[in-house]
Amino acid sequence: MIIRPMTKEDYDEVYAMWQTTSKRALSNADSREQIERYLDRNACMSQVAVADGKIVGTVLAGHDGRRGFIHHMAVMPQYRRKGIGHSLANTAIEKIKAEGIDKTHIFCYQNNETGQNFWKDFGFKKRDDVFVYSFDNR
Ligand SMILES: CC(C)(COP(=O)(O)OP(=O)(O)OC[C@H]1O[C@@H](n2cnc3c(N)ncnc32)[C@H](O)[C@@H]1OP(=O)(O)O)[C@@H](O)C(=O)NCCC(=O)NCCS
Repeated sequence: MIIRPMTKEDYDEVYAMWQTTSKRALSNADSREQIERYLDRNACMSQVAVADGKIVGTVLAGHDGRRGFIHHMAVMPQYRRKGIGHSLANTAIEKIKAEGIDKTHIFCYQNNETGQNFWKDFGFKKRDDVFVYSFDNR
């Protein structure tokens, strides 16, 4: 298994993987155009895990100049519980840290127990003092 930066050429394979791992979290922000823009804005920060000749894990990593954000942390079901998730998250945090950003946020659905356990185990602190509010700009 290797971890390497995600490229624009990975989009089709990654998007197909997300249909299995992350369907609920997908939105128009995951179109090819938006993901290409994200990769340009956060060069070499997002990662894929490759095993047996295919992409089996992803993490999108970026920052807005003040805080880091991780999205679409995912590993294909048959490759889970082997440390691939931790390796991807570690690499993402290293990339964010290297940009001079000292805090990283993630979003996790309240009923995603696996995701919550994963981030807690990794060392993320669950915030009880913050709600996420969203505004539709369309
Ligand atoms: C969350 C997710 C990315 C974790 O990926 P993963 O590759 O299984 O992660 P890891 O293997 O690094 O760690 C998962 C667990 O396996 C354990 N583990 C790690 N290496 C192991 C090994 N060699 N043998 C057995 N267990 C191991 C870890 O301790 C961890 O245990 P815990 O869940 O009790 O804390 C994966 O479950 C997933 O894709 N879920 C669906 C998408 C999702 O919900 N993403 C999070 C959005 S917020």
